[in-house]
Amino acid sequence: MPAAYPNTRLRRTRATAWSRAMHRETVLTPADLIWPLFIIEGQGQEEPVGSLPGVSRWSVDGIVARAKEAIDLGIPCIALFPNTPPEKRSDDGKEAYDPDNLMCRAIKAVRDACGNDIGILTDVALDPYTSHGQDGLLDDAGYVVNDDTVAVLVDQAINQAQAGADIIAPSDMMDGRVKSIRMALEMGEHPNVQIMAYAAKYASAFYGPFRDAVGSGGLLKGDKKSYQMDPANGDEALREIALDIDEGADSVMVKPGLAYLDIIWRAKEAFGVPVFAYQVSGEYALIEAGAAAGVGDRNALLMEKLIAFKRAGCSGVLTYHAPDAARLLNG
Ligand code: PBG
Repeated sequence: MPAAYPNTRLRRTRATAWSRAMHRETVLTPADLIWPLFIIEGQGQEEPVGSLPGVSRWSVDGIVARAKEAIDLGIPCIALFPNTPPEKRSDDGKEAYDPDNLMCRAIKAVRDACGNDIGILTDVALDPYTSHGQDGLLDDAGYVVNDDTVAVLVDQAINQAQAGADIIAPSDMMDGRVKSIRMALEMGEHPNVQIMAYAAKYASAFYGPFRDAVGSGGLLKGDKKSYQMDPANGDEALREIALDIDEGADSVMVKPGLAYLDIIWRAKEAFGVPVFAYQVSGEYALIEAGAAAGVGDRNALLMEKLIAFKRAGCSGVLTYHAPDAARLLNG
């Protein structure tokens, strides 16, 4: 007997496809995917987003068609983002709580066409509606004020809930907004409307193509570092997440995704709540650009990144790759 043979050969279980399938620890299914969609005015309109190859803005009828596509693919939820016409953007972002805004019309159209066959998640923050591109109201010095902004975000959230949104997702990073929105939903007879808090949202360089898609990028002066988190901080993310759970969030989100897998893992370990990741626009664009530059097989690259979120502890992922990933999974 040669003495050097190991007892344990981890390669044994990797040798065949059936064995690899049997030992796989995590799975990705279409039910893990949330599909973000950008809305524009008009009828029959599709407008490709230059910085997000393969992603378009759709008029409301196109959003309904995408929602039906999502149902067919087994994707349980869509996330809606409006590209508000420039003339409707203002310093105070009041379009956000107009019951006839683009967002509300899209929510109602999807609900009318699809009933409860799909979840509708709506983003709460003022940036698609403000003339300055910030997520809240500004004081004279250009600082985003907290409490007055929260009051407007509550109006925005209730407006979305009244139109039929299932999940309110505050992405603004104001202090105390989850509590205020939860209270308003309860008092406004929307006890079953969920809150998915963008609890740990970082001031990231990966949001560029999204700001292009909703038309806020060119308007934005300065940055969002006085409310979004410092990418250097992890303990602070756990404090943000703890607060949002305490304030009534049903689930929490970490954003961006891949550079923050440690935060996802820590959040899941510490709180055991449903954690979602937002694989943001810049992450999507990098995969597409990398594949186009010959870095590797595009489908393999995107699926490897998505399974990483599951391995890290996510319940699901918001990703612009949702329809393609679902098609790949459905074979
Ligand atoms: C709005 C919001 C942003 C994103 C989601 N909601 C942009 C920002 O905070 O500037 C980014 C999503 C993406 O990059 O895909 N506050």
